Amino acid sequence: MIAKVKGMNDLVYPESEKLNKVIEKIRFLFKLYNAREIVTPLLEHSEVFHREKENSDMVIKETYDFMDRGNRKLTIRPEGTAGVARAYLENKLYLDDDIVKLFYFGTFYRYERPQKGRLREFRQFGIEVFNSDSYLIDLEVIELVSRIYNSFGLKTRIRLNSLGNETSILNYKSKIKEYFNLYKESLCPDCLNRLENNPLRILDCKVDCHKDFFKNAPSTLKYLDLDSKKRFEELLKLLDKLEIPYLVDDKLVRGLDYYSETVFEIDILSDNNDAIKTLGGGGRYNNLTKELGGENTSCFGFAGGIERLINALDETNYDYKLSDSPKFYIITFDKEFEDYGLSILKEIRDKNIAAEFSYKDRSIKSKVKKGITLNSKYLIIIGKNEFDNQTLILKDTVTSTQEELSYSSFKEFLENMEK
Ligand code: HAM
Repeated sequence: MIAKVKGMNDLVYPESEKLNKVIEKIRFLFKLYNAREIVTPLLEHSEVFHREKENSDMVIKETYDFMDRGNRKLTIRPEGTAGVARAYLENKLYLDDDIVKLFYFGTFYRYERPQKGRLREFRQFGIEVFNSDSYLIDLEVIELVSRIYNSFGLKTRIRLNSLGNETSILNYKSKIKEYFNLYKESLCPDCLNRLENNPLRILDCKVDCHKDFFKNAPSTLKYLDLDSKKRFEELLKLLDKLEIPYLVDDKLVRGLDYYSETVFEIDILSDNNDAIKTLGGGGRYNNLTKELGGENTSCFGFAGGIERLINALDETNYDYKLSDSPKFYIITFDKEFEDYGLSILKEIRDKNIAAEFSYKDRSIKSKVKKGITLNSKYLIIIGKNEFDNQTLILKDTVTSTQEELSYSSFKEFLENMEK
């Protein structure tokens, strides 16, 4: 038997249904904020992700890149932001000259080491807001993100930071390099590499972050100019005003290189308010559209992992309100009565009520057993007597009562049923 690809999962019911329920709820919330859905391709030209200024581990080491049959270098999208920004430019959505809010759901691919909450094929929901540099947009997205997780009853907290503008980031980078150079002997092999190529990524290290020298690493906030400092303070003030719980984490730099100014992540908290896991992250990225060959556009966005959200919900025994079993299960005692049974099946489905038929040729006893394991509220039983008289037996599996109904009384019963 051929097995599935490592790090990629089949979603067998009820997992498939959980996914739909979660998406449905998030889509509703996105629309409350006047965002419009965008669907972009799974494949992009590699340059969309492999840009000169993008040196993150994720883009360099984890993308699925290949040449197609026409010798084009393509990449299976590892994240949504760059593809959505490409689509914003290509579809000239900037002609609107106002704020453009785009949301999406999609499957993304990263060649990671699979573990709980880290897959090679995973799903995200996300939002990207184009064409405004205002910190009110940072607030709008952060507030929306906390609303989404709150609506699922999860206890979360926003962790945020400011990286400042391009100059601040450059200054900070060289400071970080200087600082970690002092601790070269204590760095893990990956961080030694990062020290040369991408020193900010050391701050993401899950190995070195527990070491003492790590805690005293320089803060990004010391390198902000007055403007960046002011906009960050204004944002924090508004978060306080709206009572959105947050924590300033002055070493949060995020895993992608397109960010500047505000960056944030959202963590799920334990009962004693320890961050257990990051559910999603985002921030401001004002240079990406230029890197993609367009005009400079101020943007702010967020993406959350759907599998991570579902894992968190499963742990709180969240009620997904999964679809009910078919309300009716129709059993015929003989092949001869099938036509009659099928017309009843159609009648029920015409009323938009879920029903199933005992298609499999098996004993009456196993047909009844199947109806019960399916958890149908009603069994409809058709034997010779019912067929001859054009009636049916309606058995209520909850009360264990049954009655014989004429076809027309059954139609009336359907009419009056609560869907
Ligand atoms: P990211 O932090 O790389 O950001 O991913 C966002 C979320 O996607 C993560 O917090 C996590 O929940 C989920 N995720 C990422 N990788 C995996 C994986 N291998 N397995 C399972 N879940 C995963 C971005 O992707 C940015 N595009 C976010 C953004 C939007 N920034 C601005 N706009």
